[in-house]
Amino acid sequence: MSRSPAILPIPEGLLAVDSDRAPFEPVIELATLPVGSMCRVTRGDVDVLVAHTVAGLLATDDRCPHMSAPLSQGRLDGCLVDCPLHSGRFDLSTGDVVRFPTTGGLDADGTYHPAWQQPDSPPKPEPTDAKAMARAATRVRRLRYYRLRVRDGLIEVAIPRP
Ligand code: FES
Repeated sequence: MSRSPAILPIPEGLLAVDSDRAPFEPVIELATLPVGSMCRVTRGDVDVLVAHTVAGLLATDDRCPHMSAPLSQGRLDGCLVDCPLHSGRFDLSTGDVVRFPTTGGLDADGTYHPAWQQPDSPPKPEPTDAKAMARAATRVRRLRYYRLRVRDGLIEVAIPRP
């Protein structure tokens, strides 16, 4: 009989609103989500990323904390997921940014990061048009997590509903 995989603890302060009160519901068979894979689960208007990392299972928003691209379409490497849209990289075990999105912007504490540029190329000028200024003022937030458990070979997640 195979052992159940570990379930990653929810990083402090990053529990999704009302996941502590939501009932668990089955979302996918454990056997169909091997280590190194992830999937999107949608319930109502909530898109959840269920990931089976090398450290264990977790459930978080399937929305990049930058501009909401689906992380489930990105690449999982260990506990790190690469966003398919602007190459941001996030540590799913902590909810932290590992590589800032190429667009630049503000991190969660408001620190400004310039847009990515080729190494050894001259600095890009600061944005001046409205679109570029809005992009530079876009804040990268922390991921939010949902409670997850495994019962009878099924992964269950507590997904809040309105
Ligand atoms: S939407 Fe993911 S890095 Fe921009």
